[in-house]
Amino acid sequence: MSSTPIASKIIPKASRVKIDPAQIEYTSDKQKNAVQALIDEFTISPELLKDIKNNFMEGMQKGLKKDGETLAMITSYVMGRLDGSEVGSYLALDVGGTNLRVVSVHLTGGGEISTRQTKYRIDEKLKVGDAKALFDFMAVCVDNFLDEHQIVVRGDTQIELGFTFSFPVLQTSINRGTLISWTKGFNAAGMVGKDPVAYLQDAFNRRHIPVRVAALVNDTVGTLLAHAYHHPDTVMGVILGTGCNGAYIEQISNIEKWKGDAAAKEMVINMEFGAFDKERAILPLTMFDNKMDRKSVNPNKQILEKMIAGMYLGEITRNVLLNLIDRRLLFEGHISPDLNQMWTFETAYMSTIEADASPTLHATRKILESTLSFPATSLNDRQIVKLVVELVGKRAARLSAAAVAGILEHTGAWKQKSAIGIDGSLFEYYPSFDTDIMDGLEEVFGAAVRKNISIGLAQDGSGVGAALCALLAAKHSNGVV
Ligand code: GLC
Repeated sequence: MSSTPIASKIIPKASRVKIDPAQIEYTSDKQKNAVQALIDEFTISPELLKDIKNNFMEGMQKGLKKDGETLAMITSYVMGRLDGSEVGSYLALDVGGTNLRVVSVHLTGGGEISTRQTKYRIDEKLKVGDAKALFDFMAVCVDNFLDEHQIVVRGDTQIELGFTFSFPVLQTSINRGTLISWTKGFNAAGMVGKDPVAYLQDAFNRRHIPVRVAALVNDTVGTLLAHAYHHPDTVMGVILGTGCNGAYIEQISNIEKWKGDAAAKEMVINMEFGAFDKERAILPLTMFDNKMDRKSVNPNKQILEKMIAGMYLGEITRNVLLNLIDRRLLFEGHISPDLNQMWTFETAYMSTIEADASPTLHATRKILESTLSFPATSLNDRQIVKLVVELVGKRAARLSAAAVAGILEHTGAWKQKSAIGIDGSLFEYYPSFDTDIMDGLEEVFGAAVRKNISIGLAQDGSGVGAALCALLAAKHSNGVV
């Protein structure tokens, strides 16, 4: 059995060598001015970062008062904290990123966790097709996983499953809720307003798969729980991956809209912060963002997410490059057929380009010439491509910092030792995302914040967190855990 402990680790600072715009040998003044205009448009000044943070905090207050606000501030029904002593075996199903994952999680107490997992690719057609087909596919994956790992269920017993369904779901109990909207390129018909747990349980039942959906969990809530299993001072779980969002621990007395059990003191809130600034009041959107948004499956929605998350950064970068090409300021005005297609410039390329420290920008050349089929590129071309990537990437990290700072200030957590668990491919693989976030926090709170706040990678927060939630749910049967 392969064991994957999720002990969080501080990511070492990547040795990122930035392009110095003053060192580029521009081919013309026009090119130089165009680059400067991009720098101006994409740079988030410390003042703007603070304004965004303040606006974000106002949005949090509104969402805590009533449903239907831009920041949904969803009550997760998770009220208990964990201390690492929990034991048991659970299944987790993680849906909401590029892949679907089934994970079996074994908690042995003392913060020890072992997991086994299998990833399944979700076909693009399933994401936007019939909802029943999508949930049937999920059930089949779980069934295959049980076979593959020879997990046998005896008698009438059922395996308890934590379902990480990472979309905005208005929860009505720990394993009930209704989908508010799809995000991240999913758009399966007829699901909005329906309960994803009912769909999944029905798919299991029709196939006689002995699994019970015990908990419905957002990936941010799972990440918070998984990180807290190792770091009891965890105050927040954040996802920076295909999408972006955060969850944090709120005082029940601050949640005006909460009509349920008032005995508990705290509740984990799934903020759905990717939806921030639907009003377009504060975020510095460029024409490149607007173009991407217009062509996405959910125009005018998830505005902050579209400026931060891995699903979108590559496309924003592509739009900037196309604009420079159209103005004959890059690649001598030539486009490659590959780059001419939407979504072809993957965010993963950006990570590689950011990390390219070679004087000739060798890795950048490889992506442009081998992967994207550009004919020979010049050093000037490659430097400008790298600079654009850096601008888009840094803006994403600084906007993430504004959101994290808003939560830290709202809760006052920045004043004491607090841990933040972050999961997601962008945070894990994009060079220096953690450093940029920390720099942003320092601009807001001053240097002392570095002593109090630790940001750690909560690997597999979604899988382990869902199992922990199923465990909490098994302990309580009143719909809150
Ligand atoms: C999207 C989803 C949200 C999720 C986030 C990260 O914003 O709406 O529920 O947490 O992506 O996966």
